[in-house]
Amino acid sequence: MASTSKRDFALDEQRRDADHESFLAHRRMRWLKIALGISVIVLLAYFLIDVEPRHNGGSWFGYTLGTIGLLLIVWLSLLGIRKRKMTEGRWSLKAWTSAHVYLGLALVVIGTLHTGFQLGWNVHTLAWALMMLVIVSGIYGISVYATLPERLSTNRREMTRGQMVEALEAIDRQLDNAAQPLDRDDADLIIAALEQDAFRAGMTARLTGRYPGCKTRRAQSAFASDGSEEHERVNALLGRRKAQLDQIRRQMRLRALLEVWLYIHIPATIALIAALIAHVVSVFYYW
Ligand code: HEM
Ligand code: HEM
Repeated sequence: MASTSKRDFALDEQRRDADHESFLAHRRMRWLKIALGISVIVLLAYFLIDVEPRHNGGSWFGYTLGTIGLLLIVWLSLLGIRKRKMTEGRWSLKAWTSAHVYLGLALVVIGTLHTGFQLGWNVHTLAWALMMLVIVSGIYGISVYATLPERLSTNRREMTRGQMVEALEAIDRQLDNAAQPLDRDDADLIIAALEQDAFRAGMTARLTGRYPGCKTRRAQSAFASDGSEEHERVNALLGRRKAQLDQIRRQMRLRALLEVWLYIHIPATIALIAALIAHVVSVFYYW
């Protein structure tokens, strides 16, 4: 468990940066243009086409938009499968992600106009709300992809993840040595700090960067140096350990922020598909 998270942490960040490099600008924003085109056509049609007594999901126009919306959602959901197969070229992952983002945004227009704004407390509106939740989380996702990688590399200060881990291990070895002459109580404080796995952190700790149970900080505040050379050395090493932990934790925090939205985006997609099935089934059932 602990070793897995440590290996995750040490994964190369370059790959991640490259994956998301300018998928927004892919092919001079081809998919932005296509998505805008679709949205404008749908909007114009909505205002030009007369539907009696008023626009709703049950008119021919409503059915058309609903069907397009459903097909689009199914296709957007397939990105998860597509992501795991790497290929280059016309339908590279970048092209696919670019289309995903812009067509996903076009769903705001398609899905909302399909409803004719007849929203209420029912399973139909649940589908609409889930669709909006998926879209909003997606917008958060691309905003963090645009800003966090830079903050990650600033925090890294030229160090690779592996080097951060090694630096911590080197401090730990020195601390272990320096703690040998300490009396029992003090040694216990240091041992507790050393035994605490730096990479075992819950989601809340990762996201907030707050570690209330941090035994290194506890050791720092409880260890009372008597001014002797040995004690001062332990003190300094504890300070260095804390600083190294802080850097690693900032890195884990940024990584967590970079990933957390997918914990909304993906489950909400699954809920959306379930709600849509219920919507379509209930619509045909009461037809
Ligand atoms: C983008 C996906 C879709 C979303 C977000 C969505 C959402 C909604 C909402 C919120 C309404 C208004 C419900 C009401 O009048 O209280 C509605 C109505 C309707 N939808 Fe959808 N829908 C989608 C796809 C579909 C599909 C694929 C179909 C048909 C195959 C469909 C058929 C209908 C029908 C017939 C109505 C009218 C129901 C009525 O007036 O009682 N919808 N939809
Ligand atoms: C209802 C519409 C949408 C659905 C159903 C949907 C669904 C999905 C699914 C299933 C994935 C695969 C996640 C994975 O397996 O890791 C995904 C990825 C992604 N979605 Fe969406 N999405 C929608 C709209 C959007 C929108 C509007 C945006 C941005 C504005 C967006 C941005 C992204 C990005 C950037 C990824 C790639 C994540 C990565 O590679 O790390 N999505 N989406």
